[in-house]
Amino acid sequence: MDIFALLYEWLKSAHLIFVIFWMAGLFMLPRFFVYHQESPEGSTEDAQWVEREARLRKIILNPSLIIVWIVGLALAYYTGAFSQGWFHAKLLFVLLLSGYHGWMVGYSKKLARGERPMSGKTLRLLNEVPGIAAAIIVILVIVRPI
Ligand code: HEM
Repeated sequence: MDIFALLYEWLKSAHLIFVIFWMAGLFMLPRFFVYHQESPEGSTEDAQWVEREARLRKIILNPSLIIVWIVGLALAYYTGAFSQGWFHAKLLFVLLLSGYHGWMVGYSKKLARGERPMSGKTLRLLNEVPGIAAAIIVILVIVRPI
């Protein structure tokens, strides 16, 4: 087995491991927001949610996003995916997912400042975004319809 083939398998494994971590964080944070917003403002519970959200961001969400992007782009370089239609479509959805990540991080900072701009119902609806995006991305990568 040549060095490229060996590296490729490790890179792909790392990609999928960190995709799982990233998605887990993306599913958890808006759930935290829903419970956070149900706690009285300025309470100890409010402060605990601020702390939990900051830790989820720092330990899971942000590192996973960075690693998924770096390893994903390395895989694209090695496999020549940059010239393939499925990859262009995947990039679009991955960019949207990264935008959603950025929005959520921004929202958690607003909550930490005592602002609560969205209703629990809207947050629950937005919580569907990562699941839908993940389903589309996996189909694009495995089925490669385009
Ligand atoms: C963040 C930017 C991302 C980039 C640049 C990227 C890029 C890539 C590339 C180039 C491959 C290799 C395909 C091959 O083996 O030929 C791959 C594999 C894969 N990616 Fe991503 N990816 C990203 C994010 C994601 C996300 C968010 C998901 C899922 C939600 C995902 C799911 C997968 C899966 C399931 C495979 C394995 C496909 C197979 O078995 O061949 N990727 N990715």
